[in-house]
Amino acid sequence: MAVMRVNGRFTRTIWPVVDGCAVDIIDQTALPHEYRVLRLASLEDAVRAICSMQVRGAPLIGVTAAYGLALALASQADDPALHAAIETLVATRPTAVNLRWALARLQARLAPLPPVARAEAAWQEAGRLADEDVEQCRRMGDNGLQLLRLLPAAQHGRLAMMTHCNAGWLATVDYGTALAPIYAAFAAGIDVHVWVSETRPRNQGLLTAWELSEEGVPHTVIADNAAGLLLTRGEVDAVIVGADCVAANGDIVNKVGTWLKALAARAAGVPFYVVAPRSTIDFDCPTGAAIAIEERDADELRLVQGCDSAGRPGLLRQLAVAERVANPAFDMTPAALISALITERGACAASGAGLLSLYPEERHG
Ligand code: MRU
Repeated sequence: MAVMRVNGRFTRTIWPVVDGCAVDIIDQTALPHEYRVLRLASLEDAVRAICSMQVRGAPLIGVTAAYGLALALASQADDPALHAAIETLVATRPTAVNLRWALARLQARLAPLPPVARAEAAWQEAGRLADEDVEQCRRMGDNGLQLLRLLPAAQHGRLAMMTHCNAGWLATVDYGTALAPIYAAFAAGIDVHVWVSETRPRNQGLLTAWELSEEGVPHTVIADNAAGLLLTRGEVDAVIVGADCVAANGDIVNKVGTWLKALAARAAGVPFYVVAPRSTIDFDCPTGAAIAIEERDADELRLVQGCDSAGRPGLLRQLAVAERVANPAFDMTPAALISALITERGACAASGAGLLSLYPEERHG
């Protein structure tokens, strides 16, 4: 059962349509102008969807990769085919640890099985991953709400939140990570307003604004560079973001620009929360410095996507082809700038000890 709505209809971001043969997704490259559903029926479809960011957001990338593997195994499922499909999927996006986490889980489940049983088992496991993601996000919403309720503004029944990128239900299977506590606060009757950072260059903030509109949550879109001013003016009670990877020491990597918000929040004395499920935590990664930062196509800066005044979608060139561009898609926020990590198991300090207090089974030696 989905809880998030599009045009009032409950939906998830990915759902099986033909058992073992196809899943449907929401094409996020068409939003916020058009709601378009796309069918993925092969490994190639899944790879294209992840690389082109028709699906995006760490948890959703992981679930899509799992279904992609199931689709690949439907045509060939011997050992070489299994390994080749996993390698192809792992290479699609390097930063979101959920992708490797999901594929490692499927590999462990499938490798001992005879090839003939793998496709069906992969399909079932991908479905379980999707359901678990929904449940984890629901819990993160509840756990985050408990923390938000402690803020002085919330005690007066209102909350001014700021977020970056899209860490809502579009980035997961349902509920979202950073937006889950916001939805929970809104549902609990708190008067919430969200400052939505545009998030150049791909403008995932516009996805956040679209999502919040569908749910009726009051919000205002700002240019990324306006965040510091709003924070120092006292117009933000808390900043809340997701993560693509949480290192074992509590450092995080998230959409580029996250670190600047954390710095500004610290300077303004505003709490900075990171919401991420277990699938985003890499206990084998010692610090944020070890996390790979994805470099994306320079055209994401040279071209802007939107609609013309007649509502026709298209691309607009804002930089000459010859202009040199660097496009790192993520940055690292050190644990010291993070007020708390919120997971499906509760909130903790952003530190090795904090994470291990929630996940004692990861304590080795
Ligand atoms: O490049 P994207 O759009 O996939 O990046 C998404 C983010 O950075 C999100 O904040 C992150 O995945 C956490 S989301 C649930």
